[in-house]
Amino acid sequence: MQIGIFKTADEVADVAIKELIDVLSVADVKTLGVATGSTPLALYARIRDAHAAGTFSLTDFKAFALDEYVGIAEDHPEGYRKVLSRELVGDDKTGLTEENLNVPNGFADDLEAAAKDYDEAIKAAGGVTLQILGIGSDGHIGFNEPGGSLVSRTHVDALTKQTREDNSRFFDGDVSQVPTRCMTQGLGTIMDAKHLLMIVTGEGKADAVAAMIEGGVSALWPASIIQRHPSVTVLLDEAAASKLAHKEVYTNAWEILR
Ligand code: PGA
Repeated sequence: MQIGIFKTADEVADVAIKELIDVLSVADVKTLGVATGSTPLALYARIRDAHAAGTFSLTDFKAFALDEYVGIAEDHPEGYRKVLSRELVGDDKTGLTEENLNVPNGFADDLEAAAKDYDEAIKAAGGVTLQILGIGSDGHIGFNEPGGSLVSRTHVDALTKQTREDNSRFFDGDVSQVPTRCMTQGLGTIMDAKHLLMIVTGEGKADAVAAMIEGGVSALWPASIIQRHPSVTVLLDEAAASKLAHKEVYTNAWEILR
């Protein structure tokens, strides 16, 4: 795991776009795993800038989202297909097309079959070359909440009270409007990606970050599974890194190896 710690969220996004372009511009398999939430938005802005400047583009790429709500209206603006489409597709923002944006189908009549189909679609595309990840304050990645299987595939899951409270800001601050279920790539699905790019900012994530990097691998903190992945870059701002015991070790390695 390579861990970079930076002063601000802006610096984190600057390093993240560089990493993303470095990996994807030489990738044989043109696939990008995309995440939702607030954290990746600064990175998506930089992908749009790169596309506009002609320095990098998602033309010819397929994108695979981590998750989608179940039980949200299909046209709700906070549904994750809608969010990702707004960020990356509309008006030729990044070169990515609607057809190439894949999102778990949380609207399917047969959710189990849809989950299986999603794993198959990722496999058929040749796997995910670079997976962008964020972490929930309860340690989830995708919507893999504490206590789930460490080797799960795409599946329907229940959102924790904490996640629903965290996400209520997207639903007029009203937690009762936040869906209770989701369809998420499993931890096993996420771990199949070739590279993981984890971005975390803000003090509210400091406990989850410490558990992810310095705790044991445990279903209690699902993101800790990334310790078992051979190619992980974690980019943190100082607030998110504030509860790490061995910051200087990571910074030293980052400076020598990068
Ligand atoms: P956030 O969400 O970026 O909105 O904090 C991250 C996550 O829940 O994975």
